[in-house]
Amino acid sequence: MKINSAEFVISNSEVDKCPKEPLPEYAFIGRSNVGKSSLINMLTNNKNLAKTSGKPGKTQLINHFKINNNWFLVDLPGYGYARVSKKTKSTFQQFITDYFEKREQLVCGFVLIDIRLEAQKIDLEFMTWLGESEIPFCIIFTKADKISRTKVDSHIAAYRKQMLMNQWEEMPPYFVTSSTEGTGKDDLLGYIDSINEEVFKNNNRF
Ligand code: GTP
Ligand code: MG
Repeated sequence: MKINSAEFVISNSEVDKCPKEPLPEYAFIGRSNVGKSSLINMLTNNKNLAKTSGKPGKTQLINHFKINNNWFLVDLPGYGYARVSKKTKSTFQQFITDYFEKREQLVCGFVLIDIRLEAQKIDLEFMTWLGESEIPFCIIFTKADKISRTKVDSHIAAYRKQMLMNQWEEMPPYFVTSSTEGTGKDDLLGYIDSINEEVFKNNNRF
């Protein structure tokens, strides 16, 4: 899929105030600093579209970006960042879980995982919650440029093993990406394109 346009639409912390248009959307979630905003910029060829930072906790709201005028990418705040205020310190901020539970336009969530790290409890917990809530999702491994190709393969194999040990029957579909090198871009956009085609054809929501 070619990206012809990508525009920021709105930021907010209330699901009810997200765009009303019935367009399919894809949300990026994961621990703070994993590379959610950077990946949105990589996919859209615009390094200034979503705000990124070397310090965790940069994205604080639900951000809607309209792509090619007919679907949305959604950048969400990270979870697991200890320095958020006390009031918002529940493991997963309420407005994030609200977003996943209530947003009818959401067709697939992408859980971003730093390819360098062993499986983290908080990610496994979040994926378990998504599974229990019957919300479709994929895994995106990020920062693949930081380790060798051989290590990429062994880390994914270790991740799969961890998921199977955590009661999963199989790994969800996954992608390997690097925002600095553009790795995974065509695969990910191709995947989104194929889901868009399906939903526009079969789904009376859109
Ligand atoms: P929050 O908004 O705080 O939740 O973080 P985020 O998940 O949006 O992360 P962000 O995209 O802001 O990136 C965090 C840091 O990781 C930045 O310094 C990025 O430059 C760096 N980064 C993100 N993706 C990659 C990648 O694929 N490769 C490398 N080498 N660095 C990356
Ligand atoms: Mg961010």
